[in-house]
Amino acid sequence: MLTAASLVSLVFAGAVLGSALPQLFSPVDTPNLFKRVDSGCGTSGQTSCSNTTVQKDLCCFQAPGGLLLQTQFWDTNPSTGPSNSWTIHGTTVTSCDGTFQESCDSSRAYTGIASLLTAQGASDTLSFMQQYWVDINGDNEKFWEHEWSTHGTCMSTLEPSCLPSGSAKGAEAIAFFQQVVALFKTLPTYEWLSDAGITPSSSKTFTLSQLTTPLKAAFGGTPAIDCTSGAVNQISYYYHLKGSVLDGEFIPIDAPSKGSCASSGLKYPLKTGSPASTSGGRTGTTSTGTGTTSTGTAPGSIPTKATIQAITSSGSVGGLLSAGTWSTQTPGTYTISGSSSSFTLTSSKGKCAVSSSTFSCGSSVSTASTFSAVSSGGNILVAFGGSTAFSSSGTPSGSTAETVFTGSSQGTSFTLALVSA
Ligand SMILES: *[C@@H]1O[C@H](CO)[C@@H](O)[C@H](O)[C@H]1NC(C)=O
Repeated sequence: MLTAASLVSLVFAGAVLGSALPQLFSPVDTPNLFKRVDSGCGTSGQTSCSNTTVQKDLCCFQAPGGLLLQTQFWDTNPSTGPSNSWTIHGTTVTSCDGTFQESCDSSRAYTGIASLLTAQGASDTLSFMQQYWVDINGDNEKFWEHEWSTHGTCMSTLEPSCLPSGSAKGAEAIAFFQQVVALFKTLPTYEWLSDAGITPSSSKTFTLSQLTTPLKAAFGGTPAIDCTSGAVNQISYYYHLKGSVLDGEFIPIDAPSKGSCASSGLKYPLKTGSPASTSGGRTGTTSTGTGTTSTGTAPGSIPTKATIQAITSSGSVGGLLSAGTWSTQTPGTYTISGSSSSFTLTSSKGKCAVSSSTFSCGSSVSTASTFSAVSSGGNILVAFGGSTAFSSSGTPSGSTAETVFTGSSQGTSFTLALVSA
């Protein structure tokens, strides 16, 4: 019943939908514009959770668990991702009554998601994820692995046997990440709120219905919003599904319950410390508050050639060699291409990328990762996934070189400053 894999090209570029406000990415009508692998299911079958007869082909009917939700974060402390976008938490399938199913197939708990995406031709999805699907502790790889193994493996329509025969190992996980990203692109929470005049503020408060009314109008169902200490922190959009997660029709529904926010006095704080995104044709207006500290503004310009200095809690210590490792020996010179909100780095060894939370440069890197710059205390700091935190297991001295990790999971934390060369 499956047809051969067919690839449908994706076009998000530039379509700005005639709105006066710049769009972060173009909202589109339905997520099924984003199909990559043809499930052969179509969308004329019964709708998940509201079927009237028993469905046998669970490649084309999502069960058990036909209630799907996409969840997004608004993280401000520390802030993650662009200052003018919510970030992806994930897409989850739950039972029709809302009880969760988790971690359904440990044999498919793949690791090395970034490499898997790159190896299977989905580096466009990966670079989007590096900007918009970011872990608050800087460990994106662990976060993606967790979302896939916990939630993706519970989707019946993504079982390997549902994919065209001959699909590579892990192809169903690639399809999962592509679909999460595709759904996210149809859910521009920040834009929907700002179109209704609701933007982050250090002083204003909102009622819950001020937030949900424009979102319901744009989405087609009332989302659930969760709060932390009276501030919005998470939003969940709910769906039923006709057909497969691969290419089915996601039908917006009201959230089964309203989320943890109170009905009034809700804060929507500014994200400080992360630059506004300029992807998708957006023209880089920043809504980042400068506040009383000097952190958090995107620098106007960045050098095109620079060395990269490490700044620890006890001051500047050495810099990055051309392989991307940290050392006190003569640092390498990096070529910087792009703008302060999105650039790539290349050294004499080759392109630089973050893979499994490890920064490195070399001829084995086929796709350069995207970084952004944040000015802080007179320095231009390198940020990955909106975070300026990097760490190594120790401090280098003499001829030693330390591997550089994104985030602060390792013993020695530091930031990386671009110094014009
Ligand atoms: C809907 O389909 C599922 C999966 O086959 C089945 O378990 C459930 O009983 C069906 N519901 C009805 C009302 O037939």
